[in-house]
Amino acid sequence: MTGTEPLLRVTGLEAAYGRARVLFGVDVTVGPGELLCVMGRNGVGKTTLLNAVMGVLPPTGGTVVFDGEDVTGVPTHERVRRGMGYVPQGHETFPQLTVAENLQVTLEASRHRDKGAIDEALEIFPRLKEFLGRRAGFLSGGQQQQLAIARALVTRPRMLILDEPTEGIQPSIVQEIEAAIERLHKENGLAVLLVEQYLELALRLADGFVIIEGGAVQRAGTAEDLHDEEVKRLLAV
Ligand SMILES: Nc1ncnc2c1ncn2[C@@H]1O[C@H](COP(=O)(O)OP(=O)(O)OP(=O)(O)O)[C@@H](O)[C@H]1O
Ligand SMILES: [Mg+2]
Repeated sequence: MTGTEPLLRVTGLEAAYGRARVLFGVDVTVGPGELLCVMGRNGVGKTTLLNAVMGVLPPTGGTVVFDGEDVTGVPTHERVRRGMGYVPQGHETFPQLTVAENLQVTLEASRHRDKGAIDEALEIFPRLKEFLGRRAGFLSGGQQQQLAIARALVTRPRMLILDEPTEGIQPSIVQEIEAAIERLHKENGLAVLLVEQYLELALRLADGFVIIEGGAVQRAGTAEDLHDEEVKRLLAV
């Protein structure tokens, strides 16, 4: 891979639920170390886009190239092994397993199986250290979200793909999650594809953004362009 080649290149991606088409040709690229924010109103297809990128929902058209390789037909778990760390909307964890077990099973499914990855993830979310023996289902929503991101980190991803990681979470933990994403991006140089509806958070974190509307990217730009009136109009409820 050359320095100018994007880490993720999504071209003409189409997705549908049965006959209901949601995405009509989405183009998105994320460079190495870049944080790209995917924005758009409720129900425009942001989650559908991430699921199609990960192969959770097989796309009906278009291609997904990760790290120079076409992964469009590759199973989701194999994409994870190749470095696409996905944290779906709604902080998914194994609720019956403890925090430690959640991290351990993820490590066992990872390509590297290096125990140090668990300590690294706990270093990013130190609050989780207090709850290692607690079942994930008994954590607060914000703690579960931290665990969900920590699990993705245990796989040592090259790119983190996050679907509204601060949605419905108490403000103090929102700050911790935002700080963790910022640190992973700025200090560790991790590429991030972040679905986020809040303009303020996107302004603080993103290098670039795309706005989805009508099944395609209606607007793309750098963080500064987020101040434009047209952007506000596209995001207004
Ligand atoms: N499993 C499904 N079956 C049928 N339709 C679905 C399914 N999941 C989503 N949809 C529809 O597809 C469209 C896009 O949904 P999606 O969840 O991708 O939007 P979103 O932008 O992520 O919304 P939000 O901001 O609320 O998370 C919506 O009209 C939704 O109702
Ligand atoms: Mg969504």
